[in-house]
Amino acid sequence: MTEKQMPQTIDAEQATHLLPMDALINHLRGSFVRGCEVPPRHHHTIPVPGEPDATLLLMPSWQQKSENGGLLGVKLVGVFPGNAARKMPALTSVYLLFDSGTGAQLATIAGDVLTARRTAATSALAASYLAREDATNLLILGSGRVASLLPDAYRAVRDVSRIGVWNVNADSASRMVDRLRSEGLDAMVVSDLEHAVRTADIVTSATLATSPLIKGEWLQPGVHVDLIGAFTPAMRESDDEAVRRSAVFVDTYEAMHEAGDLVHPIKAGILSRQDVRASLFEICSGAVQGRRSRNEITLFKAVGTALADLAAAGLAYKAHTVEKPLR
Ligand SMILES: NC(=O)c1ccc[n+]([C@@H]2O[C@H](COP(=O)([O-])OP(=O)(O)OC[C@H]3O[C@@H](n4cnc5c(N)ncnc54)[C@H](O)[C@@H]3O)[C@@H](O)[C@H]2O)c1
Repeated sequence: MTEKQMPQTIDAEQATHLLPMDALINHLRGSFVRGCEVPPRHHHTIPVPGEPDATLLLMPSWQQKSENGGLLGVKLVGVFPGNAARKMPALTSVYLLFDSGTGAQLATIAGDVLTARRTAATSALAASYLAREDATNLLILGSGRVASLLPDAYRAVRDVSRIGVWNVNADSASRMVDRLRSEGLDAMVVSDLEHAVRTADIVTSATLATSPLIKGEWLQPGVHVDLIGAFTPAMRESDDEAVRRSAVFVDTYEAMHEAGDLVHPIKAGILSRQDVRASLFEICSGAVQGRRSRNEITLFKAVGTALADLAAAGLAYKAHTVEKPLR
């Protein structure tokens, strides 16, 4: 096998460097317009003796081969809850990228970095249509892997000048704020969540919350709410009132069945499919307008799509092969 045919390995550090937020957001914008094939994700339950079951999640997607090439990829995610007792991460993932015309493997990419970066970038992409143009005051709920990337992502689409960070574990919020300040940003730890929500232009949440953190009655006219965390009906970051008061947008319509933020308002008769204004595909293609007025409250709920994984993997691979030309 020649080097040209050898699959490239892109580790976490390289993937971080190869996926700067501005380039990734723009690339995602084009990818949501073009679309690609995204079959349902596969979940497999893996019994682990004496421990909670593990889950293997497969997220494939592909583009049809054309004269511009074509990519096929699959993300493999392992969730092993028993790892906590071993002080090992419960979740690990890897992304495999192939040529969709020949099946040749192109790259193996660090899946955790790819996922976190494409997730923050997808939120910022949505906000580029949904947040007010003059939004400057960003409130972040959470200080984990995804949340820590949100300042960078939002600063690529809005002139963010103040960043508040709230987390269930205040020490973790402090560490994130210290890092942001060391980068010269005006950041502060938030302890009064209600006050912070009432004064924010953008409220973005990437937590594992199972009961609402963001109350609809706190939302001020013109605010944009971005919900990243809940991915099962048992999880939610906002209450029914937040959905009732907002123009609701989703990354994909699967969010309506998967995320507690939408599942509960649907059950309560507060939200229906017709009430959801648009998916990110429809916003990016221009089929549906984003924010309609200064005072509208907008809410974006994302559960993630394999399209964004494939787009990010394609961008990282292209940048990698440009930096390290193949012979
Ligand atoms: N929408 C998407 O495409 C997408 C992609 C990746 C991750 N996610 C989701 O985003 C969330 C954050 O992911 P991550 O990789 O940053 O995880 P992480 O473990 O790095 O961070 C989780 C954060 O949630 C906080 N937290 C934990 N339990 C909480 C609770 N009960 N209430 C409030 N906060 C709590 C933690 O302190 C931490 O700040 C997860 O729910 C994850 O599944 C969504």
